[in-house]
Amino acid sequence: MKTVVITGGNDGIGRGLAQERLERGDRVVVIGRSADKGQRLLAEAEKRGAGERAHFVAADLSLVGESRRVVGELTETFGALDALVLCARFFRSARAETAEGYESTFALEYLSRHVLSHGLTDALEKSESPVIVNVSGPGIPKPPIRWDDPHFRAGYDGLAAQRHAGMANDLLGVAYAARNGSGRTRYVLVNPGSTATSFAGEYDPVTKSQVEMIRRMGKPVEQAVAPIAEVIDAPPAEPLSAFVEGQRIGVDDPRLFDREAAARLAEFTERLLAR
Ligand SMILES: NC(=O)c1ccc[n+]([C@@H]2O[C@H](COP(=O)([O-])OP(=O)(O)OC[C@H]3O[C@@H](n4cnc5c(N)ncnc54)[C@H](OP(=O)(O)O)[C@@H]3O)[C@@H](O)[C@H]2O)c1
Repeated sequence: MKTVVITGGNDGIGRGLAQERLERGDRVVVIGRSADKGQRLLAEAEKRGAGERAHFVAADLSLVGESRRVVGELTETFGALDALVLCARFFRSARAETAEGYESTFALEYLSRHVLSHGLTDALEKSESPVIVNVSGPGIPKPPIRWDDPHFRAGYDGLAAQRHAGMANDLLGVAYAARNGSGRTRYVLVNPGSTATSFAGEYDPVTKSQVEMIRRMGKPVEQAVAPIAEVIDAPPAEPLSAFVEGQRIGVDDPRLFDREAAARLAEFTERLLAR
């Protein structure tokens, strides 16, 4: 039985994966903001006879303090972890800042993934074949990191903020593998492609109608879940790998996986988090 932690497991791909893992006999720990959705998930697991293996931790992962609390709680409660799957996201048409002063998309979709990936490494290393699956958007060219204004104090745009966080996650994978390459934990970047999920967010009317269309045309969640389940069952041998809609892609193209930028972002993030 593996212990699988899934952020954003209340909805969409994370939820689909949580159900798949429970059916397969694993222990699942879902992290989400909504305690109501979490309770519904636990009640469903109970009905299917998997109640003892289902756990929910309520946390607002856009706060670094909350991500750190989750790291402490999971380490203390479970000791060893087999997989960490990062799915939490929230689209915002209008810029918002967290109580800690970070732009919300950057904080939730990148900073929390950095804190959880590195913070849970000790617990992951205790397992035989641990893996971190960062579900984001590898394989698609994205604009570079905004070194002077990562928090979009100027020129905020919801889509641009998402793509910026996506680039930061690609670089997080590169930097993680460079630093922990001699460890057991594999880092896997996954782009699921358009999938019919909840598309959690606060949208302006134009973006809302575009998202509705993507949702109608998106593939069913089960199709996005299958390749993630495969890498949890059999993590790739290499420290870093990337998949687009189930197809493995190379991670050597410097336009997509820039090692220098990855090292710079890791250092930049550590300085930011040390404040
Ligand atoms: N769907 C697609 O077409 C697509 C395409 C490419 C990449 N992806 C990537 O795939 C991953 C999963 O996407 P999805 O579409 O399946 O997600 P989704 O249905 O939009 O669900 C996102 C989840 O994130 C949680 N969340 C939001 N804010 C949070 C916060 N502050 N703290 C903790 N949890 C929070 C929400 O739970 P609460 O309501 O409990 O807050 C929700 O369960 C994302 O990383 C996304 O970027 C998706």
